[in-house]
Amino acid sequence: MSEHGIPFLDLQAATAELRPQLDQAWARVLDRGCYVGGDEVEAFEREFAASVASPFAVGVGNGLDALAFALQALGVREGDEVVVPAHTFIATWLAVRMLGATPVAAEPESGRFNVSARTIEPLIGARTRAVVVVHLYGEPVEIEPIAELCKTHRIALVEDAAQAHGARRNAKPVGAMGDAAAFSFYPAKNLGALGDAGMLTTASEPVREQVCRLRNYGALAKYEHRIEGRNSRLDSLQAALLRVKLQALPEWNQRRRCIAARYSQDLAGIDGLELPQTLPGNEPVWHLYSIRTSRRDELARFLATTGIETMLHYPAAVYRTPPFAAFGPDRITDSDRIANQQLSLPMGPHLSELQAGNVADAVYRYFRGSARPRA
Ligand SMILES: Cc1ncc(COP(=O)(O)O)c(C=O)c1O
Repeated sequence: MSEHGIPFLDLQAATAELRPQLDQAWARVLDRGCYVGGDEVEAFEREFAASVASPFAVGVGNGLDALAFALQALGVREGDEVVVPAHTFIATWLAVRMLGATPVAAEPESGRFNVSARTIEPLIGARTRAVVVVHLYGEPVEIEPIAELCKTHRIALVEDAAQAHGARRNAKPVGAMGDAAAFSFYPAKNLGALGDAGMLTTASEPVREQVCRLRNYGALAKYEHRIEGRNSRLDSLQAALLRVKLQALPEWNQRRRCIAARYSQDLAGIDGLELPQTLPGNEPVWHLYSIRTSRRDELARFLATTGIETMLHYPAAVYRTPPFAAFGPDRITDSDRIANQQLSLPMGPHLSELQAGNVADAVYRYFRGSARPRA
């Protein structure tokens, strides 16, 4: 990336903005000498739960474990089937396999990146134990009819909210719409730690308690091991830093909305370019701004020559990756088409509106062969 280029994301910029508060949080943890769990983790759990209007939040080591613990606590076992989106990050599927269950791939709704009740319903059978929906790219799933389906079939509904901190649907935050939800605080997320971290939210006290055991060797108190748990606890330091960043999240999400609005305004009406659509009632948080075009690879190369970094999310449907090759259909699917056409433009609170305008200008130039006329 040249020094005048536009990076896809810039993690240091977000941290630099909050440096004094982060330094204080860091010092507080060093002074107290408690490094795993403890007051900082409990305070962050309370604050995060409140931010998603969920009764309980349980801090864990990462988003993958949050997903696997959610499924396990909701009763998913070896031999069960779990419906998962084909178009998602591989972690959604790995969580299912960690329990020995079988992922069943749901395709995205046409014209969208997310699954719908229509694409999920035919996949529900006698062995289905749960459905995982992913609020992909920060755009909430149309979850109400999916929740109805799950209720009718008495199966669990888990939200993978790893990309959607702060997103809302019909004024309700994601993370409190199913039986449990999993968040990732991987550094590149809208709310990112300075390392790995994750959170599970739920309204169920039994699920909360079970996940508290699962994350800590099966014990709620030292040496009281009731079940076969694992070690997936949240570090005090990450919790303290995340408490600071949680305060900034609404403002950072708002900046993402401005960047998305700029892209959508400047790039409207270009033949051969599909812009991301938002469902009525949704307040997305634009973890990614994801466009579609059959000229994707050439466009990415052109943008790279102008110093603009782009990324693919994701280069292949999960069932086309080697570990899951046996789970995919023989025909070309909607998820395959997305994998061939999708491109993510630079996005994040680090981007200025001027930079976003420059990105939009470059995309416009690629498609139209000339500069975008000024309004
Ligand atoms: C949709 C989705 N699910 C799950 C995860 C897993 O989170 P983590 O990397 O914290 O394990 C991620 C991110 O990495 C993700 O994007």
